[in-house]
Amino acid sequence: MTNSAMSEERILVLAPKGRDAQVIEQALIRGGSYCTICAGYDELLQQIALPAAAALVVEEALHSADLQPLFSILAQQPSWSDFPFIVLTSPLTNKDELRAHSVIRNLGNVILLERPFNAETLRSAARSALRARKRQYQARSDLQERMDLNATLESRIAERTTELAQANDRLMREMRERERAQIALVQTHKMEALGHLTSGISHDFNNLLSVIQGNADLVNFLAEDERIKRVADKICKAAQQGAKMTSQLLAFSRGQPLNLKACDLNQALEGIKDLLSASLGVGIEIQLDLRPNLSYAKADLNQIELAILNLAINAKDAMHGSGTIILRTEVRAASSDLVSDQEYAVVSVIDTGEGVNPEIIGKVFDPFFTTKPLGKGTGLGLSQVYGIAQQSGGTAKIKSEVGIGTAVEIWLPLADLDEVPESTPRGDEHVISEGKRANILVVEDEPQVREFIVESLEILGYQVMQAEDGQSGVDKLVSARPDLLITDFLMPGVINGAQLVKYAHKIYPDLPAIIATGYADLQAIDEVVDREMILPKPFQLTDLAYKVHTAIRRSNSASGIGKAA
Ligand SMILES: Nc1ncnc2c1ncn2[C@@H]1O[C@H](COP(=O)(O)OP(=O)(O)OP(=O)(O)O)[C@@H](O)[C@H]1O
Ligand SMILES: [Mg+2]
Repeated sequence: MTNSAMSEERILVLAPKGRDAQVIEQALIRGGSYCTICAGYDELLQQIALPAAAALVVEEALHSADLQPLFSILAQQPSWSDFPFIVLTSPLTNKDELRAHSVIRNLGNVILLERPFNAETLRSAARSALRARKRQYQARSDLQERMDLNATLESRIAERTTELAQANDRLMREMRERERAQIALVQTHKMEALGHLTSGISHDFNNLLSVIQGNADLVNFLAEDERIKRVADKICKAAQQGAKMTSQLLAFSRGQPLNLKACDLNQALEGIKDLLSASLGVGIEIQLDLRPNLSYAKADLNQIELAILNLAINAKDAMHGSGTIILRTEVRAASSDLVSDQEYAVVSVIDTGEGVNPEIIGKVFDPFFTTKPLGKGTGLGLSQVYGIAQQSGGTAKIKSEVGIGTAVEIWLPLADLDEVPESTPRGDEHVISEGKRANILVVEDEPQVREFIVESLEILGYQVMQAEDGQSGVDKLVSARPDLLITDFLMPGVINGAQLVKYAHKIYPDLPAIIATGYADLQAIDEVVDREMILPKPFQLTDLAYKVHTAIRRSNSASGIGKAA
């Protein structure tokens, strides 16, 4: 038997008189019990606080004792315990003894043995006290077991609850992801369907517009009556506006051929920054936030610039003409709606404007969706941006919060390494530097229009020379070579715009030229400049700025700037 088991089976003996204790101990040991003899009541108090099975006490030893401490120890017993006492009494003789006797009964689990008794009676009382105590020990271990079981059950329940919560979280996450993917898929399908529709419409419309414009040209040419000429001119202008819209629609429906090349987007944004600042007005500040050493993206630089111009105008409108626009470049991991899982170059145009309402944000890329008043917006800007991005193998996304601002992102695939130009040679060719040093000759007979062009170009930071008809244009060309020629088409005198450009190219074959025209004799113009260099009248500052910027960049790249070695 272990020590602790032995101590739990101890019988405490309190019989301080004479040899009583030894006699009792001998009798008990013979019956197989373990005894601890207490010299006095105080020692009994100490021992009873330790493990023990029962206490055998002669009644007289308690008569004069203060029993309160013993009662309070017994009161603090755990629920399973009811400590047994065997009290050896003498026949009661007086009242005091009677009272003490009844107090002793208050000890609770008491066996009274009245003297005289024999040793066997004592042993039998000890055995039954021990048996009772052992049943209590059994109850204790049952209780402990139940508590242990409870604890493990609780911890298992807690574990399962956490597992369930985690599974639930996972499920909710997957559901949200699936929902997002579903929305993206629906959006892609919608845009594709719209693309097919607009592509068909715009091709047919283009044909109709060519017929309208061609015949209006013819009327203008054949008519003698000035009034008829004016009417034909109006038809032409309307047809031109229609043509601008169909070209935007074609950009959305991916019906336009793109010239995809490896482009340095950071350089492009640095290049377009001044143009944007000048054309958006003094209230708008443009900030660049460019990722250093951004990889080359595969894109059509002209189209990307057009897209950024569109986005910047939207941003300006959203900020009611004053605020800061951030142009940001970065590289991002592909999102699930993109074809390739490679990284993408992302250009963002970020404003702090009024933001887009969540109810309409799914529609802003739709062609003709606009919230601007009639005549202010056609709702084709963002669809054009979307079409350009999609056709470049990327996409366009919008993020917006009402009252905080909007970010429109153009995602473009990165160019393959072998497409990236190694260096940018600067030869002896005639290189136009943009901004202040570029010198532009403006030839326009209408004084108000000329003034508008000259002032606009000066605002944009160019140096400007001017002439009021074809002949004085020729004189100016002879006296100095400009970096760019902008001329009206129809002018009084023998030299029209197309003839002036032809003449200019005789003396300066690589001189870039833009023909501004309200009335387009396209055939004559087509012979001298390509369609991209026609500036349809009436035009706004941004149209002019963009044409000039494009002409200068094209001229630079034709002379080797920005081309691969
Ligand atoms: N940066 C922006 N902040 C707030 N709303 C915007 C922003 N950009 C676009 N929108 C919303 O999306 C609509 C569609 O834009 P989109 O550029 O396609 O057409 P538009 O600007 O209305 O007309 P357009 O560009 O053809 O002149 C806008 O009318 C406007 O409601
Ligand atoms: Mg717009």
